[in-house]
Amino acid sequence: MELEGKTALVTGATSGIGEAIALAFAREGAKVLIIGRNSKRGVEAVEKIIQVYGRWAGFYAADLASNRGINGLVYHAKKVLGKVDILVNNAAIFPMAPTAEVSHTTLDEVLATNVKAPFLLTAAFAPAMVERGQGKIINITSVAAHKGFAGGALYGASKAALAQLTRAWADEFGPKGVNVNAIAPHLVDTPGIHEALVASKQLLQSLPARRFATPEDVAEAAIYLAGGKSNYVHGITLPVDGGFLAI
Ligand SMILES: NC(=O)c1ccc[n+]([C@@H]2O[C@H](COP(=O)([O-])OP(=O)(O)OC[C@H]3O[C@@H](n4cnc5c(N)ncnc54)[C@H](OP(=O)(O)O)[C@@H]3O)[C@@H](O)[C@H]2O)c1
Repeated sequence: MELEGKTALVTGATSGIGEAIALAFAREGAKVLIIGRNSKRGVEAVEKIIQVYGRWAGFYAADLASNRGINGLVYHAKKVLGKVDILVNNAAIFPMAPTAEVSHTTLDEVLATNVKAPFLLTAAFAPAMVERGQGKIINITSVAAHKGFAGGALYGASKAALAQLTRAWADEFGPKGVNVNAIAPHLVDTPGIHEALVASKQLLQSLPARRFATPEDVAEAAIYLAGGKSNYVHGITLPVDGGFLAI
């Protein structure tokens, strides 16, 4: 097992990619704290971990777009986990719209959830990792950080910011034994975008993998970046994109 004895905090683990990461980390021996707003799905994810892997898992309901949510989460995580060995900044929202139609509220929500929350959580947990001389921070970005998409200007900019934070944090925390890396998925079949994917099957003709990703594809990459086998890997963005960015 890759993560025996480790503690992990995974944001946005009440659904999709985050839930798959939480389950995969539990399978590999980690104690996982699941974060999201939807308590029903959060508790279901915890129960799944307990039933399937017989491991401790917890859920904490927090709105990461609010300072109150972040502060409560940091306090709770330190109380129940003690130390956080692995932080996965996965929670995000992705409203798509032409630039002129993006409201001030949406602009603030996207930046708060996709950029400010990872920033504040890293600021909260990285110092103790530095003190222990070890830790793993994984940011879930997107291929939209590297390519322009009409309708995705705001989302892509938020993910590009997170990709840049990944590089800056590698320089800031890497010398103290903390690995900071990112994973950039392309289209992953999760509940939030399943219908859109069904309608976009023609995209597969130009994708080397000829299939959309599963959340588990992303989770396997997260295990690598969370475990000891990636100790010499700093500041990368690993595309888990079926070859999308390569061609
Ligand atoms: N699916 C894709 O094709 C794809 C492609 C590229 C990148 N990504 C990235 O992968 C990550 C996960 O995507 P996904 O498809 O798994 O999304 P998803 O199924 O919509 O899940 C999003 C998760 O984020 C949480 N979340 C959103 N806003 C939150 C807030 N304000 N406070 C707390 N939690 C919040 C949700 O929790 P609640 O519902 O409980 O609030 C949920 O657990 C995101 O960073 C996304 O940008 C996804």
